[in-house]
Amino acid sequence: MTALLETKTVSKDYGALRALSNVSIAIEAEELVSVVGPNGAGKTTLVNLLTGLLTPSAGDVLFMGESIAGIGPVRLAERGLVRSFQLIQIFPQLTVAETIAAAVVSRQGKRWRLFATLASDHAVRTRVAQVAEIFGLQHRLATSAAILSQGEKKLLDVASAFALDPRVILLDEPTSGVSTAEKHGIMQTLIAAAKRAGVQSILLVEHDMDLVAAYSHRIIALAEGCVLADLPPAQFFADPRLIESVIGKRMGQRC
Ligand SMILES: Nc1ncnc2c1ncn2[C@@H]1O[C@H](COP(=O)(O)OP(=O)(O)OP(=O)(O)O)[C@@H](O)[C@H]1O
Ligand SMILES: [Mg+2]
Repeated sequence: MTALLETKTVSKDYGALRALSNVSIAIEAEELVSVVGPNGAGKTTLVNLLTGLLTPSAGDVLFMGESIAGIGPVRLAERGLVRSFQLIQIFPQLTVAETIAAAVVSRQGKRWRLFATLASDHAVRTRVAQVAEIFGLQHRLATSAAILSQGEKKLLDVASAFALDPRVILLDEPTSGVSTAEKHGIMQTLIAAAKRAGVQSILLVEHDMDLVAAYSHRIIALAEGCVLADLPPAQFFADPRLIESVIGKRMGQRC
């Protein structure tokens, strides 16, 4: 079976620094895979390679069997791979409905821009209402994004990504900055929304090991740019040295 998303012996250098070294991972359909590792391990570099923002120095990145090395997020989203936006991209002056509509319209492409009055376009409004409902934001449609709670902002951030109808979604710390009490609720909403929206796989970059343990089918641990482990949670959490490496207590892991 072809993996949905994979890296083949990928390395990435920033000048003299090798941020990723010979990384081969694969994400299949129906999986939630977490990428973990201490600061500087290469997680964000990996996500940037997987979303076509960066071009590998060596190796290749494939989405549904085709190379996506460096193709950029817009073309990648058209093919069905989307990354959740960072909070910074939530525009405080827009309402929840307008934020989701912007994503829906960008997904529909130029066809929709031919219509003069987007806001009144029935199909866009219907889709916005659907996405909002999936994320429990249906009562907040007219609310300015600026006054949402931190947890609601996270959900809006991911709802915008879901509005693009992705097959695979990459979530870079979707619950960072959110209270511990809210984190599980957000993850459960995200996972249920993914199922309803037909998303086949989720790649999660996450520091919170509670969340990783609770929701992952597989855990990929990076350390100093190498894959230290690629295991189901039960095996991963059975190895205390692995956990120490990932939370940064055990230094000097070399590959
Ligand atoms: N644009 C860049 N130019 C030079 N070095 C970089 C650049 N981006 C990242 N690095 C370096 O590459 C290594 C991997 O960085 P990366 O941001 O991928 O790690 P990370 O696992 O996401 O870390 P964190 O948990 O802190 O977010 C680090 O040593 C970092 O300093
Ligand atoms: Mg990072």
